[in-house]
Formats: sequence, structure tokens, C-alpha cells
Amino acid sequence: MDERIVSLKAQFEADLSKIENVADLEGIRVSYLGKKGSITDLLKGMKDLSNEEKKAFGQDVNILKNEATNRIAEKMQELKEKEIEKEINSMPSFDVSMPASLDRGSYHPITLVQRQCEAVFRSMGFNVEDYSEVVTDYECFEALNIPKHHPARDMQDTYYLENGQLLKSHTSAAQNAIYKKYKDALINDGTPIKAIFPGRCFRNEATDACHENTFFQMEGVMVDKDISISNLIFFMKTMLSEVFRKDINVRLRPGFFPFVEPGFELDISCLICGGEGCPSCKHSGWLELCPCGMIHPEVLKAGGIDPEEYTGFAFGLGLTRLAMMKYGVKDIRDLNGGSLKSLSQFTDDE
Ligand code: PHE
Repeated sequence: MDERIVSLKAQFEADLSKIENVADLEGIRVSYLGKKGSITDLLKGMKDLSNEEKKAFGQDVNILKNEATNRIAEKMQELKEKEIEKEINSMPSFDVSMPASLDRGSYHPITLVQRQCEAVFRSMGFNVEDYSEVVTDYECFEALNIPKHHPARDMQDTYYLENGQLLKSHTSAAQNAIYKKYKDALINDGTPIKAIFPGRCFRNEATDACHENTFFQMEGVMVDKDISISNLIFFMKTMLSEVFRKDINVRLRPGFFPFVEPGFELDISCLICGGEGCPSCKHSGWLELCPCGMIHPEVLKAGGIDPEEYTGFAFGLGLTRLAMMKYGVKDIRDLNGGSLKSLSQFTDDE
């Protein structure tokens, strides 16, 4: 073999062994195999050789050229693998079998009871609806049979925006939109309206242990033919027994709300004494929990539903109050206080 080929091959191997990164490898490729590379140069120099010599020399240079190409490809593969390995080694290592970080965070007690209520109502065929916190005067009052200057507005003073909209003072503010959303399915296909809509509510209140300017309610409505107070009692009793995980007795007392007729206050048997009478229930055996009633004909009408044909019930469950009862929270302000120490101690599965 021609000496030039032998020494170039040795030189190439020596150069290649020093390469440590992809960029330098590309440099080698250009300097040996590029247009002006040394192997290419050997081929160019062949023109001065005899035909015999050309054949043997040409073959040897081509072998070198192929070898060099393969060696560069191998080296490239090797360098890439090394780079991946380097990247893997530089990543922080962790043990996948380790338990997750211990301060995992927890659900707010109101979220917990909200989810429990949602699960129970879902299982009974209710849709869970979301509704905005900023609503119109029509949605919050007019559509609920509370005209301007009606005294019932006094109890629900809230925060008004400059454009006349307001922060909803009760979840009933979504009733009108819910009736309009589902009335066609009710009227045309006979699908009963069954919806619950939890939400944050606001009132212009002076705060104390029992009052907050921001609290949560969960409204529920059911509209169909022949809906009566018995349906209301059944659904409330079932839901509350599930949430408190024991059989709960309920009773209705008359209560006034312009958007229901008749209207009630629903009481539950005292959770602490079971109805015997104790200081928590002021020795009555009952706790006031949830205003409710049969939806007023005017309210159905405003939602596009004929009250001659359909009836329904509505309730406004105080989620904040329910969470306080279920978890024994004595001061309502603790729930909005943001102290993780007090809020993170509740779980779903007690
Ligand atoms: N929206 C009423 C309130 O917050 C509660 C209520 C809801 C009463 C539904 C009757 C029916 O005071």
C-alpha cells in the first residue's frame, strides 16, 4: 500500500482518538473527507499516476475513505450516547418509591362538604352548575319576585359595582338562568330540571363569630310535573344523612322568602344530643339549617316555565354553616382566615 495512504490512515486514527465532542468531530470530517480534505486530496493527486498504479491506489484510497466515514459515524454515535449519559447523571436523582412530600396541602373544609353534597346529589341525578359571582339586579332580585324597594332586599344588602351589577347575595341568583337553560328539555322532552349550584355569596355584614361578608351556599332546584314538598323532604333527608353519615331527622317550619310559596326553614335533629336537647341546640333538639320552599309561580314564569303545568322546590343550603356543624368550627371567621394550621386538619374520610 502506498506510504501516503498508510501514514494518512495513522494520522486520521490519531486525530480521531483525541476527539471529545460533536463539533470537533465535524471538524475532522471536513479536514479529511471534505472537498479540500486530505483524503479527497489523495484522490485528486492520482492524475499523475500510470493506469496500473491508478487502479491499485484508487482502490486503497476508497477503502480508507469508507473506513474513515464509518469510523466517524461510530464516533458520532459514541459521543451522542456519552452526552445523554452526562445529561442523565446531571439530573437530580430521586427514589420513585419514596412517599410524596409530607406537607401535601389539604382541602378547605367548605370544599370538603361541597364535594360531599355534590356527590350525593349527582348520584340522585342532579346536574352541578357553576355560576358567576357578579350578577345583575334582575338575576339576584327581580327575577326572584323581589322588586325594587321590596323590604326583603334589606336582609340581602351586598356590594354594588359602578355599572349597576352586584356581587350575588345568594345562590338563588342563578335560578333564572338555570330555568332558561333547561326549560326546553323540560317542556319538549319531559326531562325534569334537577340542578344544584354551589357558589360564593356576599353580604354587607358586620362580621362576628356567626356572620361573614363572604360565605358559601349551595342552591338546589327540581322542577317537573307534580313535584311536592314530600320530594323536597326526601332529597334533603337523604343528602344530610349521607353528609353526616348518620340518619338525620328533619322538620319544616314556616319561613318567608318572596321566591318560594310556601316557604320553610328546614331544621335537622341536633347532631350533638340527637334530639334530646342540649346547650348546642338551646335545648330544643333541633338546629336550623336550610331555607327552602316550593318555587313561586312568578319565578317559574320569569324562567319561561308555565306554573299551571309545572311545580318545583328550591333550597339554599348554607355550605359554610354545614362545614361549621360538621367539623365543629365555632367561629365563622376562621374559615376565611387563611390559617393553614386550623384549615388543614380536616379530611374527607373521618
Ligand atoms: N336564597 C335564600 C337566602 O339566601 C335561601 C333560599 C333558597 C330560600 C331557596 C328558599 C329557597 O336567604
